[in-house]
Amino acid sequence: MTANHRLTVAVLGPGGIGGLLAALLSRAGHRVLCLAGDETAKALRTTGIQVRSGPFGDFTADVEADTELREPVDACLIAVKATALDTALTRVPPAALGDALVVPFLNGVEHPQALRARYGPDRVAPAVIRAESTRVAPGEIVHASPFAEIDLTGDTVPRDRLDALAEALGTAGPTTRVLPDETAALWAKMSFLAPFALLTTRHALPLGDVRTRHREELTSLVEETAAVSRACGGPADPAQALARYDAFPPATKSSMQRDAEAGRPLELDAIGGALLRAAERHGVPTPVTARVVGELREAGH
Ligand SMILES: NC(=O)c1ccc[n+]([C@@H]2O[C@H](COP(=O)([O-])OP(=O)(O)OC[C@H]3O[C@@H](n4cnc5c(N)ncnc54)[C@H](OP(=O)(O)O)[C@@H]3O)[C@@H](O)[C@H]2O)c1
Repeated sequence: MTANHRLTVAVLGPGGIGGLLAALLSRAGHRVLCLAGDETAKALRTTGIQVRSGPFGDFTADVEADTELREPVDACLIAVKATALDTALTRVPPAALGDALVVPFLNGVEHPQALRARYGPDRVAPAVIRAESTRVAPGEIVHASPFAEIDLTGDTVPRDRLDALAEALGTAGPTTRVLPDETAALWAKMSFLAPFALLTTRHALPLGDVRTRHREELTSLVEETAAVSRACGGPADPAQALARYDAFPPATKSSMQRDAEAGRPLELDAIGGALLRAAERHGVPTPVTARVVGELREAGH
């Protein structure tokens, strides 16, 4: 894979994030092969992917679609939810991948290890994406945020391979950078996401109400998450995290909260569960996080 060359990219899970990236890469001239269930694959083959996006415009992009990867590709983007990951990976047999980079866009910190165990240590390049994008129907994507930013990492992946993929993604649309420290990149996202996702979901309130009516709890979660991040080798700046929450529009909801409202399974274990497991491993006290995660589990999530 070299910069400026037409890539063949598989996208496992063409939903909010996967669908957006698939359509953007296809529009930029790359060959895109979406991997999905029968119905979704059929819809994508028939109608392509329709995107509505402020920054990237409204457009439809043709993609290929199948239920399983059957040929080598340059990169395979993994964009299913954590709750669907194990099942979905059966669509990507390690032997079919060739020399491809495996690039998960999932939130959380534990999936890279599982992917490395399945696909090998030197080809998994985790990405963090900051965007709000929703699959409103198969092949219909609404990208609502005025931005889409990707941090591509991968401590065990040769830098030139990361640079080439980042170049393709950045040229297609999202602002993309390669970061040298995978742990720092994943924990930076986790540190922002976990308190916001857990509390908006626990209280069924948008961020504006959480940060005013449940300020003390929010502060505790932010501090506990920062302490765990620091213990894991990630960044820790609780004051900055709180300042970022304060800058968001008050009606902001987390995707975990939207999943709860829609009765979908939550990525609770990948976010809250992983945070508590890391805390336990490093002996970091996280009483407020443990209580909130426990309450969400007791509520049936
Ligand atoms: N959406 C965002 O704005 C956003 C932002 C940052 C990070 N993330 C993270 O990105 C990841 C993906 O989230 P998302 O919101 O894009 O999810 P999503 O919209 O629910 O999309 C997931 C996609 O996975 C597909 N899928 C589910 N099970 C599958 C299986 N067994 N085989 C193949 N495909 C399967 C779904 O197919 P169908 O279409 O057929 O249902 C759907 O297209 C999550 O970890 C999330 O936390 C999301």
